[in-house]
Amino acid sequence: MNNNSAALVERIAQLKKEKNAVILAHYYTTPEVQAVADFLGDSLALSVKAKDVDAEIILFAGVHFMAETAKVLSPDKKVLIPNPKAGCSLAESCDAAEFAAFKVKYPDHLVVSYVNTTVGVKALTDICCTSSNALQVVESIPADQPIIFAPDRNLGGYIKKLTGRDNMVLWDGACHVHEEFSLEKILELKSKYPAAKVVVHPECKATVAEVADYVGSTAGILEYCGKDEATEFIVVTEAGILAEMRRKYPEKSFIPAPPIDSACGCNECKYMKMVTLESIVSCLEGESPEIEMDEKTRKSAERSILNMIAVK
Ligand code: 13P
Ligand code: SF4
Repeated sequence: MNNNSAALVERIAQLKKEKNAVILAHYYTTPEVQAVADFLGDSLALSVKAKDVDAEIILFAGVHFMAETAKVLSPDKKVLIPNPKAGCSLAESCDAAEFAAFKVKYPDHLVVSYVNTTVGVKALTDICCTSSNALQVVESIPADQPIIFAPDRNLGGYIKKLTGRDNMVLWDGACHVHEEFSLEKILELKSKYPAAKVVVHPECKATVAEVADYVGSTAGILEYCGKDEATEFIVVTEAGILAEMRRKYPEKSFIPAPPIDSACGCNECKYMKMVTLESIVSCLEGESPEIEMDEKTRKSAERSILNMIAVK
């Protein structure tokens, strides 16, 4: 760590104490950002943590929909996002007004939405899910009840295949990072490292998920790599997770899967990388930018998230 980073880390520790603030960070943020977090997790764990955390300020080191979820669940806390431009291509692929019009076409359907959505879409949702619990959420709904699943066509398609439900209508959205992984390059890596297990996030295309030894959320992938006897893993999700994998399992090796065009760096989520130590310092100092929303939308969105948390 250089002198500048060390000074920033020290300043962040000071500000957290002074302002009774905690930092929640997603696994896809940079290793320096992960190192200043009080809690590191996948989107499900962070949503639950946001609800229970004992602090006046939550600084969300992640993307906008995650900070919004924290605010929905913790309306009395100040929720800050270091860079409000940190969006999500998947959440942006589902506009709330267009989704409302889509919903009108399926009046008998129950709406299940992945948490990677704006608060406006969550307000139109009956029950949210994350990649950790999407299967349990869908299985908690009676088999004869038709469902709209939004916004990720890949996660939706994967759950449809696992459950065999043909009464699920999918919104046609996707994540630009996970759609870019190349099956061909994963198979090349597999022949170079034949003992390696392939671990895949369900936002990847079905053709990629089909060659996986394990498909799951970031937290699920981490757990699988710890429990499985293999010592090498080909990791088909955003490359930020490698920092936590190497920290947790230093004796194992992790090979990042390349995207279709290796020069594009698109196995990295550019939005997650917008959070920097500098932006965390200025966000805590000025207590801004802050997440704000109208109470009616918040209440409706809260219902759909609490319905998810209630599914065991
Ligand atoms: P997790 O639910 O696995 O944390 O994933 C969130 C996400 O944005 C994946 O791209
Ligand atoms: Fe959104 Fe994809 Fe980034 Fe996850 S990796 S936050 S789904 S753009």
